[in-house]
Amino acid sequence: AQRKAYRSAILHSVADPKDVGLEDSYQYFEDGIMVVEDGHIVDIGNADDVLARLPQSVAIETFENKLITSGFIDTHIHYPQTGMIASYGEQLLDWLENYTFPEELRFKNPIYAQQVASLFLNELASNGTTTALVFGTVHKESVDVFFQEAEKRNLRMIAGKVLMDRNAPDYLTDTPESGYEESKALIERWHNRGRLLYAVTPRFAPTSTDEQLATVGKLLKEYPDVYMHTHLSENKKEIEWVLELFPERESYLDVYDHFGLLHDRSVFAHGIHLSDCECQRLSDTGSAIAFCPTSNLFLGSGLFNLPKMEKFKVNVGMGTDVGAGTSFSILQTMSEAYKIMQLQQEKLHPLKSLFLATLGGARALRLDDKIGNLAIGKEADFVVLDLHATQLMRFRMKQAKTLEEKLFVLMSLGDDRTVCQTYIFGDKAYDIAGNDNAQDNN
Ligand code: GUN
Ligand code: FE
Repeated sequence: AQRKAYRSAILHSVADPKDVGLEDSYQYFEDGIMVVEDGHIVDIGNADDVLARLPQSVAIETFENKLITSGFIDTHIHYPQTGMIASYGEQLLDWLENYTFPEELRFKNPIYAQQVASLFLNELASNGTTTALVFGTVHKESVDVFFQEAEKRNLRMIAGKVLMDRNAPDYLTDTPESGYEESKALIERWHNRGRLLYAVTPRFAPTSTDEQLATVGKLLKEYPDVYMHTHLSENKKEIEWVLELFPERESYLDVYDHFGLLHDRSVFAHGIHLSDCECQRLSDTGSAIAFCPTSNLFLGSGLFNLPKMEKFKVNVGMGTDVGAGTSFSILQTMSEAYKIMQLQQEKLHPLKSLFLATLGGARALRLDDKIGNLAIGKEADFVVLDLHATQLMRFRMKQAKTLEEKLFVLMSLGDDRTVCQTYIFGDKAYDIAGNDNAQDNN
């Protein structure tokens, strides 16, 4: 197989700053070389060191004024909501009814679904996101076309069909039986096929009956390595509604817990208004939270308490939550995360942000043995970032002296213009110059 080498400044996260301190949480090679073969990283280090052991025959591509880092990981996003991103004026429950459900209805047409899946995956690539945990709609075909498009692109993706059997329009509901059977068939077809993985996906507690939530627990017992993906404790009215619908349960999380939905591959979006007991339970079960700053601000849901999650040792990844989130860019998402921390008199160090956007996300998804940084043996999903992408960034970077300052400017001002190239499993999947986006047929 063909070996290829990339010479550039290279930065990647190797540990959580909270465990090892900032200094030991990353590796940086000002003049580095990364070597890729068969979709995997086979060498990385200072250029001089790698050159000494690299066969002459290996081609080296050199980047100037760029930074190579690991592909971004989005731990919560809805591909069917691409077409209604930036819908005006509502908070969660009305937003779902007025904007989300009517758009999701359109996905009963697999041709529309396929067009949106393709556009969505192009959008992820141009923003440097290489893995995501993705909601489909209630229609099983929505998941088939999504996985087909992801498979074409060699992507590591996790997705699932929405389960929803009440409190939603008739045209968007399944039943405990049909949801169970369809999920099972999709798991058999897609889970662990190449780089693809399946997530059983009840929308959230209010839209599933006890019977349906019980089928989710059953599926997780039958397939212990599939994911569970849902929403949790996002909005105050939502929480009140959950407690009315499930009066016997102690808390919102307890509804999911009661039906056996908490395990080390469970990912809950938001978790803004959680009690200490709920955080402890998430921690004990190895469940993860997806922190979705742009969505939480856009829907006015509240301010996520990251320090509290750290205190309880709950795994946290970043989510855009498009279409409630307003950007596909994890860089923009980190910028908003910083502001959410500021509103709570807290800080978010750029090296912590780098961790959350890459290795932390991989840990939340239990994929840190495969992705999340550029360590030897990992899958070669990486991005080439341009620190001089815009006039403003170039000007501002001149005054940024340290790596940390540069990284912070990158995360505050960066967006899709900053992403020059995105590589998937060792192959270039996107180039800002435009001639590599062959899949773009929308
Ligand atoms: N809660 C239930 N469904 C949704 C959804 O589609 N988006 C968000 N942000 N929250 C939800
Ligand atoms: Fe969501």
